[in-house]
Amino acid sequence: MTRSRITGLGMHVPERVVTNADLEKLMDTSDAWIVERTGIHERRFVAPGQGTTDLAAEAARRALADAGRTVADVDFIVFATITRDHAFPGCGTALQHQLGMPPVGAMDVHNACSGFLYALDMADALVRAGQCRCVLVVGAEVLSTGLDLSTRGRDMAVLFGDGAGAVVVEPAADEARGILGWVLHSDGSHAEDLICEMPSSRLQGRITPELVVEGRHYPKMNGRQVFKHATTRFPEVIHEVLAQTGQRLEDVKLIVPHQANQRIGDAVGQRLGVAPGVVFQDIDHFGNTTAASIPIAMAEARELGRFGPGDLLVLAAFGSGFGWGATALRW
Ligand code: ACO
Repeated sequence: MTRSRITGLGMHVPERVVTNADLEKLMDTSDAWIVERTGIHERRFVAPGQGTTDLAAEAARRALADAGRTVADVDFIVFATITRDHAFPGCGTALQHQLGMPPVGAMDVHNACSGFLYALDMADALVRAGQCRCVLVVGAEVLSTGLDLSTRGRDMAVLFGDGAGAVVVEPAADEARGILGWVLHSDGSHAEDLICEMPSSRLQGRITPELVVEGRHYPKMNGRQVFKHATTRFPEVIHEVLAQTGQRLEDVKLIVPHQANQRIGDAVGQRLGVAPGVVFQDIDHFGNTTAASIPIAMAEARELGRFGPGDLLVLAAFGSGFGWGATALRW
């Protein structure tokens, strides 16, 4: 089977910078609390009217240009997001239209923080099976418009930002490079620990004014459970993908995790026993962008020269579901 490779990488974030001081004006919080608990100093929020597909389109254009491809080369879109422009249709088809692409297949992946890895790994499977030759994989989110930006929602509101990242996945010309393997997991018994309950198919009308007043359409989190599971699952799944692909932790140039919380990233690095800086983190200036965080971090890390051709990378994610996974690749 042909190995697949990421041939292009791009990111895009909205212009508007929202600092911790800006959030202090909206809710009872402090820069010191946010920095100590999360490592976040600022994040980006969209302008009014800007949606997930708008951010994705720019990231996708950059990824395609980076790969030396045009929209005419793409034969499939996998779009990871939990913040679609509309309840339906999905963002994959919206992106196909917005980019002026031929009528290729387009699908959405709704796996929250692990969504980008699920999307990337499905693209890898499509290319290795010979089903596709150029897959556009996107992780994009507009989380800001769905946050409770009052004191009631402060535990969640301070964490998240908006942004998009995209990669192009094609058959690898050089068998020594490309996606080496991946593992994906889920445990739905923890659904309630990180959830946005509404709108719900279990409810006639999906949501009621009373539930809106209660704030049940906002995401909520059991922070202790998320921290405990994330700091266990990240190291576990990184070891698992390295064992599966016959690679050694000491040979990994960079681990690019979903940017959940800087304290989680720090704890993962410590538990793995890797040198400082091996776990790449850019959450301090972008916040947690859910499905977009891994491709954004990859694009930024490459820009900073943190990895280059031939380097061994591990991408890892943990999030709502719970769902988690890791992908090993040689750049
Ligand atoms: N500003 C000020 N105070 C706040 C804020 C805020 N933004 N948010 C919460 N608080 C208050 C709480 O109301 C609480 O107050 P109380 O003691 O008066 O009730 C206090 O701070 C402590 O809040 P907790 O976070 O619940 O404290 P706890 O001691 O349980 O913290 C832990 C545990 C592990 C630090 C955890 O909550 C945490 O940080 N979890 C990580 C969750 C996370 O970052 N998830 C990332 C998103 S999900 C993902 O991407 C996978």
